[in-house]
Amino acid sequence: MDLKQAFENNKNWIAAKKSVDSAYFSNLAKGQSPEVLYIGCSDSRATAEEIMGAKPGELFVHRNIANMVISVDLNVMSVINYAINQLKVKHVIVCGHYFCGGVKAAMQAQDLGILNPWLRNIRDVYRIHRKELGTILEENLRYNRLVELNVQEQCINLMKTATVQTALKERGLQIHGWVFDIETGKLIDLNLDFTAILEDIKEIYNLG
Ligand code: CO
Repeated sequence: MDLKQAFENNKNWIAAKKSVDSAYFSNLAKGQSPEVLYIGCSDSRATAEEIMGAKPGELFVHRNIANMVISVDLNVMSVINYAINQLKVKHVIVCGHYFCGGVKAAMQAQDLGILNPWLRNIRDVYRIHRKELGTILEENLRYNRLVELNVQEQCINLMKTATVQTALKERGLQIHGWVFDIETGKLIDLNLDFTAILEDIKEIYNLG
């Protein structure tokens, strides 16, 4: 992308927005009250707003390599705490995507330096689900399934936090696991059954 073009694009965007609503930006400046926290991958192709047609003010967004929710990552945990406790979002979406370089890297025998501890969390997802993944002989399909299982495990990681447990209990916060298929552009709801998942892990991760 030509970065000079970015400022041209920006001017055009301002004009387009103001032609519909002259107070568009002054209204945006008044504050935000998004109902959705979106946790996705940093991949340049997996844009949050564009794939779901969201406007400024509608999504609180966090993106990192392979859409991970890691309990000792101060960055993602700060976003989750702020979105749930201050912004009072009603939904948290973890959105993975097929053809995820992070997930692919975690399936290979390769030393990636500082990325090793980050990607190890995906290797752990593989280990937890190795029985199922082992039955998928076609590599691309196994890779797609790992993307889906990684989304599921990151949703479970959300549920291991006190913030999410409290919001689930007290105000019916909803968690969603989605996958974006880059090859077709399709957004897929994995329709994860969190009641069953929660029931299964409750006694281990219950923080009271
Ligand atoms: Co990715």
